[in-house]
Amino acid sequence: MNILITGGTGFVGQAIIARLNSEGHCQVWVLTRNPENPVLENHLANNHAITCLDQIEEGTTIDVVINLAGEPIADKRWSDNQKQKIMASRITTTNKLLAWLATRTIKPKILISASAIGYYGVQTSVEASDQTNDLEIDETGQPDASFSSELCQRWESEALAATKLGIRTCIIRIGVVLGKDGGALSKMLLPFKLGLGGRIGSGKQWMPWIHIQDLRDLFFFCIENPQIEGVLNATSPNVVSNKQFSTCLASVLSRPAALPMPAFVIKLLMGQMGEELLLSGKKVVPKKTLSLGYHFSYPNLEQALTEILTEQTVS
Ligand SMILES: NC(=O)c1ccc[n+]([C@@H]2O[C@H](COP(=O)([O-])OP(=O)(O)OC[C@H]3O[C@@H](n4cnc5c(N)ncnc54)[C@H](OP(=O)(O)O)[C@@H]3O)[C@@H](O)[C@H]2O)c1
Repeated sequence: MNILITGGTGFVGQAIIARLNSEGHCQVWVLTRNPENPVLENHLANNHAITCLDQIEEGTTIDVVINLAGEPIADKRWSDNQKQKIMASRITTTNKLLAWLATRTIKPKILISASAIGYYGVQTSVEASDQTNDLEIDETGQPDASFSSELCQRWESEALAATKLGIRTCIIRIGVVLGKDGGALSKMLLPFKLGLGGRIGSGKQWMPWIHIQDLRDLFFFCIENPQIEGVLNATSPNVVSNKQFSTCLASVLSRPAALPMPAFVIKLLMGQMGEELLLSGKKVVPKKTLSLGYHFSYPNLEQALTEILTEQTVS
């Protein structure tokens, strides 16, 4: 099988490539801005680092395309310039990918394009409300006019153009990915290890999460099951609130979760990014993903965090 991955050097892409390489029989083309990235050296045997899609020879049949590339969404404050960069990095890459796909005589069997649960927008009332909003949002949930939602809407719309080329297309709306060496957990870990962690704001906002192994395997599930298409939520069936997440993380690390981060500090330090990504969260559930028969290896948060943090806890 020949696979093309954009953004394959990232946190999620590395996990997918590692499984592809371990199973063998696969050639992987990684579209990257930096072919010298040391990450690629770890997987050199069957991989080709390319900086432009035209570097794939016309005679090479690509069977599967996985589209992950994009400027990190939570690394910098959302200035107008940064928002433009976040948006353009996904739209331009996906647009170029679609233009290239249109030129291929033999089309790939499937395009799997990343998106995020940000598609479902923000929950503005969570700070004011005494209650957590228990409304479950499945794959039929509606978007709103927040930046994260507009980003996902435009990104998905670009990718879904592949259906017009006759390519089976899956959109994976990803929650907070938990894994070793990367993603949101790496950023949270230090304060929690120091006993300085705690809930964010009221802690009532939902925090849909997924173990990186389940996310990786969901991509393979889509590849292996030709009847699957459209949107799938990549979130554990057991959603937790931010407060439950903080308590569980502290408990797995045998530390207290005593120091909440007040909402006003988040707003001051991070502005709109903090409001949309940290202070707001909907109860997103993987209804279609489950109904299609995907079996989560890590449905439970404590089990997921224990698996990820065991080494760190011991050291
Ligand atoms: N991790 C999560 O919790 C999570 C949650 C929801 C959605 N997602 C989405 O899933 C995708 C993969 O996530 P990830 O955690 O693996 O992301 P990541 O670690 O940030 O990797 C994304 C990759 O995209 C490429 N990239 C970065 N900035 C770019 C730019 N300005 N223009 C073009 N390409 C750029 C980079 O590859 P090169 O440097 O090799 O070009 C990078 O390795 C992302 O698009 C992300 O938004 C992730």
